[in-house]
Amino acid sequence: MTVRAIVLAAGKGTRMKSTWPKVLHGVGGREMLWHVLRALHDAGVRDVVVVTNAELEPHVAGVAARAGHDDVRTVRQEPQLGTGHAVQVALAALTEGTGRVLVLNGDMPLIDGALVARVLAHDAALALVTARMPLPSNFGRIVRDGERVARIVEQRDATPDELAIDEMNAGLYAYDEPKLRAAIAELKNDNVQAEYYLTGTIAALVAGGGAVVPVVATDYETVLGVNDRVELAAAHARLNARLCEHHMRAGVTIVDPATTWLEPELTIAADVTILPNTTIGRRTTIGAHSEIGPNTRLQNARIGEHAVVSDSVVIDSSVGDFALIGPWAHVRGGTEIGTGARIGNFVEVKKSTLAAGVKAGHLTYLGDANVGARTNVGAGTITCNYDGARKNATTIGEDVFVGSNTSLVAPVTLGDRSATGASAVVIRDVPADDRVVGNPARSIGKKPATS
Ligand code: UD1
Ligand code: MG
Repeated sequence: MTVRAIVLAAGKGTRMKSTWPKVLHGVGGREMLWHVLRALHDAGVRDVVVVTNAELEPHVAGVAARAGHDDVRTVRQEPQLGTGHAVQVALAALTEGTGRVLVLNGDMPLIDGALVARVLAHDAALALVTARMPLPSNFGRIVRDGERVARIVEQRDATPDELAIDEMNAGLYAYDEPKLRAAIAELKNDNVQAEYYLTGTIAALVAGGGAVVPVVATDYETVLGVNDRVELAAAHARLNARLCEHHMRAGVTIVDPATTWLEPELTIAADVTILPNTTIGRRTTIGAHSEIGPNTRLQNARIGEHAVVSDSVVIDSSVGDFALIGPWAHVRGGTEIGTGARIGNFVEVKKSTLAAGVKAGHLTYLGDANVGARTNVGAGTITCNYDGARKNATTIGEDVFVGSNTSLVAPVTLGDRSATGASAVVIRDVPADDRVVGNPARSIGKKPATS
């Protein structure tokens, strides 16, 4: 069976009150459109057309690639005259076929591949997903004729009796293509909004003797639509609850799921503990027995095993096994923190490599630095890496003792086992085993051998 999908994403999204296309608004760190395309991907649907507008169009290929689709087509709908018009425009751009055409709204970010597969399993003129929902609701109402759908009435056009119906139209449809083409040609815009409603196809299908089969979703939250910022926040919370549940069932302790914000595509080992008020995103990975939080943000971070990150931010960086980060550290820009290293209070580390056992406990900035194993970086140490034009590198060897408040004016090197005195301003390279003090720092010779 050939399946082609049409994703409806061109709507003006006026209820969002945004200059940004609605389906690009984020839910769990991914665009709504990403979630819809990912569900299609998970259901094995690869032939996809996205109906777009001028603002959305340049973004679709990038979102699709991240959702796993190599070549998603786009079709521009200008002006936007309703969901039925959007499908007319899409069909006009497709060569005629005889298989199934899946149509789905681009504003349903909680959709999953299993539901897409369920609606595709039917061979009727039209199978469409419905869901029982609490009232009141702004969804279109399903008017039934026994086991079949007779028609759908939009909330705006509904009578009081119809508004009391609690079975809703999800916005996910699997059509027989020739029957869809016939029905779509007959749509009229005789409704409150003067739009061509896709839901108007049902009356034509039924009149032509076609079966319109409802596929009832088991969990209505899967099909929640997002039309305004209130619904956006609700969808985000629901997705987050689902992600937390997934990781908890896989062995992760999440002390407070309500204040732990996760994204899809995280790798969190069993026996990790996540403390409250923590946000983890952008494909972060966390090794077993690590403890993250409270009050922590990890973005594209790779955290090893038995590490602790508390009250800190780690972005685009890695943290080794048994390392301790925080409280109040900021690690970013491709930094690599080695095994058992300790990065403490009010320390920022940018684009630096810290070998195993390095300690930078207090009030320090390390930028563009390479620090050797077991080196101790004293409180208040600053790599002066920026000369106003360029970022310069600092190299610190192994077993170095950097005195408190040292300024390392880059480019500069501290040799292995060297030491700086408190408040040294180092402007020249320091050889291995040498000790320097003062401003500008000068040698006071090697440390006397202890007998
Ligand atoms: C639609 C359904 C409603 C259903 C609900 C589920 C219609 C007429 N109504 O209502 O029965 O319960 O979804 O969430 O279909 N779009 C276009 N071009 C347009 C108009 C809309 O591409 O001209 C896209 C939008 O970007 C959106 C989707 O179609 O992704 C649905 O449009 P929206 O305006 O959100 O419809 P609802 O009022 O939610
Ligand atoms: Mg909608």
